[in-house]
Amino acid sequence: MIQEISSEQTYPLRSEILRWGKVPPEQCANPEDALPGSFHLGYFEEKELLGIASFHIESMPDMPNVSAYRLRGMAVAKNYQNKGIGKKLVQHAIALLKSKNVGYLWCNARTSAKYFYEKMNFEIFSEEFEIPNIGPHYRMRIKL
Ligand SMILES: CC(C)(COP(=O)(O)OP(=O)(O)OC[C@H]1O[C@@H](n2cnc3c(N)ncnc32)[C@H](O)[C@@H]1OP(=O)(O)O)[C@@H](O)C(=O)NCCC(=O)NCCS
Repeated sequence: MIQEISSEQTYPLRSEILRWGKVPPEQCANPEDALPGSFHLGYFEEKELLGIASFHIESMPDMPNVSAYRLRGMAVAKNYQNKGIGKKLVQHAIALLKSKNVGYLWCNARTSAKYFYEKMNFEIFSEEFEIPNIGPHYRMRIKL
């Protein structure tokens, strides 16, 4: 089941999955978490939070006048990856954003997750670039 969650609920999975446990949960807030229009989705199985994704309003660097949301902090619990949870979260968000007439959804995708986003029909729109302490990324987007 997918439902909206608070930003604080995302911290444990952000810490464990996206920061390899090296950054404590209480330091896993993103500055955009509380911006107007931001929301966070959680995938639950029997009350256990197994997947998270966060969304905020941010235009794309190369198309500043097109309405867009940015996806951040997409993570699925280790033993539940590759079971379709990430796909369900992204599909849910896409339907929600389409209903708000948003033009694009984009993200800085870890190179290790590039194939996942390609499966979700995102396309690359940057050269590969490095984010310090995290690794190589591509900007990827989907037209809604
Ligand atoms: C990337 C991540 C969010 C994907 O979620 P997931 O639940 O594991 O992915 P799904 O099972 O929904 O996969 C959907 C599709 O993408 C494919 N896929 C997922 N990860 C893939 C990978 N690394 N390489 C190739 N294909 C991949 C799946 O095979 C599946 O294809 P299908 O629809 O044909 O069956 C999850 O694996 C994760 O948390 N990874 C570690 C953290 C991370 O990299 N987050 C993204 C930061 S940008």
